[in-house]
Amino acid sequence: MRFENVLVTGAGGLLGGYTVAELRDRCRVSGLDLLPAEGIPHVEGSIEDADAVARACEGQDAIVHIAARPNVWSGSGREIIQTNVVGTWNVLEAAENAGVKRVIVTSSDSVVGFTVFEGAMIPPDYLPVDGEHPRRPTDPYALSKKLCEDMARSFADRGKLEVVVVRPVYVLYPEFECEVKARAADPKGYKGPAAGGRQPAGGGPMWHYIDPRDVARAYRCALEVEEPGFGPYFLCGPTTLAPEPTVDRLRDRTGRETDLRDPALYRDNPHAPLYDLTGAAEHLGFRAAHDLRRVLYG
Ligand SMILES: NC(=O)c1ccc[n+]([C@@H]2O[C@H](COP(=O)([O-])OP(=O)(O)OC[C@H]3O[C@@H](n4cnc5c(N)ncnc54)[C@H](O)[C@@H]3O)[C@@H](O)[C@H]2O)c1
Repeated sequence: MRFENVLVTGAGGLLGGYTVAELRDRCRVSGLDLLPAEGIPHVEGSIEDADAVARACEGQDAIVHIAARPNVWSGSGREIIQTNVVGTWNVLEAAENAGVKRVIVTSSDSVVGFTVFEGAMIPPDYLPVDGEHPRRPTDPYALSKKLCEDMARSFADRGKLEVVVVRPVYVLYPEFECEVKARAADPKGYKGPAAGGRQPAGGGPMWHYIDPRDVARAYRCALEVEEPGFGPYFLCGPTTLAPEPTVDRLRDRTGRETDLRDPALYRDNPHAPLYDLTGAAEHLGFRAAHDLRRVLYG
């Protein structure tokens, strides 16, 4: 591992737990979260509290910034903006002040504007959607992540810190698998947590997903490579979980044809995600290993 001391914000959460497990044998990991994190040195505090963040950043070489209100349902719009935007500002500023070398910032594919609410899909300009595609957030959570990306860019441009932005899609935790399986079994009839899950199956209109072990490994890759670049890098499984091929489903959802910049991608892998995964592959050496589509559909 390139970095000896790594702070994981959000270490007490779902993705934080997988990330700590991925990193802890390779470097000294500590955490910052409102919730306790098991088995690692830990600052229990808020990313909204600049003093707590500064304390947690002392002596760190790198930060994986995960802590956030993680979706549109996690607070009012004002609360989501407050926690995610001010919290990320605090992390970036404290990192710079503490001489941290690299910060990985967790954004979300929702910044492009068509993943959260089934009915509010802004058609993409072209496929696959890459890091250059316009961002059009349509809800407070997505907007908060866009603003986090902009702050990350600004700190990267100042040149004192390396900043890497990753955009995971819906993280498919084992806890939610029963819902995803129920949806796959009855795509038209599925209405929500009928299978007893805590949340309905997600992934936006195209049913994107990524396994949390893959996201944790992507963070490790972003810490290990010499020159990760800024990104933003989409992190997504190799396929969607939707029954229809991606281009057909998108046409059905948007009522129009979308410019295919890489027709071979969707010819060779009809269920390829909307997103361009070559950025993560080329710059981070990361490709998702877990293919749930095979598990669901054989
Ligand atoms: N879960 C997904 O599908 C998904 C998809 C794309 C991006 N993300 C992003 O991934 C990250 C992790 O999400 P998750 O699925 O682990 O959710 P989670 O709720 O399990 O984890 C979020 C963690 O952040 C902590 N946190 C919240 N507010 C805080 C504050 N003010 N100060 C300190 N800690 C605070 C929570 O206590 C929690 O432990 C988030 O940044 C989220 O936006 C998640």
